Amino acid sequence: MVEGEVRAVAGDRILVVGGGRGIGAGIAAAFPGRAVVWTRATGVDATDPTSLARAFATFQVQHGAPCALVHTVGDFAERPLLGTDAATFRAQFASNVDSVFHTIQAVVPAMVAAGRPGRVVLFAAAGADKDRGMLRAPVYFAAKAAVVQLARSLALELAPHGITVNVVAPGLIDHPHSHGQSQARMLPRVPLGRLGTVADAVGTVAWLLSEAAGYVTGQVLTVDGGLQG
Ligand SMILES: NC(=O)c1ccc[n+]([C@@H]2O[C@H](COP(=O)([O-])OP(=O)(O)OC[C@H]3O[C@@H](n4cnc5c(N)ncnc54)[C@H](OP(=O)(O)O)[C@@H]3O)[C@@H](O)[C@H]2O)c1
Repeated sequence: MVEGEVRAVAGDRILVVGGGRGIGAGIAAAFPGRAVVWTRATGVDATDPTSLARAFATFQVQHGAPCALVHTVGDFAERPLLGTDAATFRAQFASNVDSVFHTIQAVVPAMVAAGRPGRVVLFAAAGADKDRGMLRAPVYFAAKAAVVQLARSLALELAPHGITVNVVAPGLIDHPHSHGQSQARMLPRVPLGRLGTVADAVGTVAWLLSEAAGYVTGQVLTVDGGLQG
């Protein structure tokens, strides 16, 4: 449905890293025949550069360079800073930040070498780009703030190559694997009065992948119904 509404940027495959469920699966479903999904279940660990390099070597033989890279991996842990042990801290940064860094390093050089317009879309979380603390999940939001900053810098680096880099920052997106209790608690703070749907996030990504968004780069698009705090 989405492809009929906004034509995705010309080229071939859209690589969706983390597209096995939730928002990523919705993105993959919006581009039938063009999306390639990487998850641990498909044998790719985005926190492991060796795993990514192996997967991308196979991908390149089959498809060449992708026209778009969408990265949706990012575990959520809700606990106060002083209640966070070192292993959880490292796991949050591995899932949210290391995986972005290693995926970019594995995939983007081939997109640059392909010499055609492209798209990179990363995922943060609503509020991660603001200069305020996040009592609910400080380590997760610190990791997502790092994603935002990596994206802004990568946008500058890739602009001369016609590749845009943007961030989608969801608020409370409801799907079978999302954190229901936490979302229910936060719902009164959503002025639009409902949780977001996967389709809400997918629509934003589809637009970023479209030719219509070709002059938008280095931005954070917040999809949160106006979430306060
Ligand atoms: N849902 C929300 O309300 C919400 C709110 C704010 C921000 N976000 C952000 O939006 C993004 C998508 O969220 P979501 O709720 O759709 O995520 P999700 O339900 O947790 O799904 C994550 C996907 O990533 C894959 N994955 C996890 N670790 C991986 C790894 N190391 N290597 C490769 N694949 C991996 C998982 O499959 P495997 O387990 O098979 O690997 C799964 O397919 C995330 O970055 C999240 O932080 C979500």
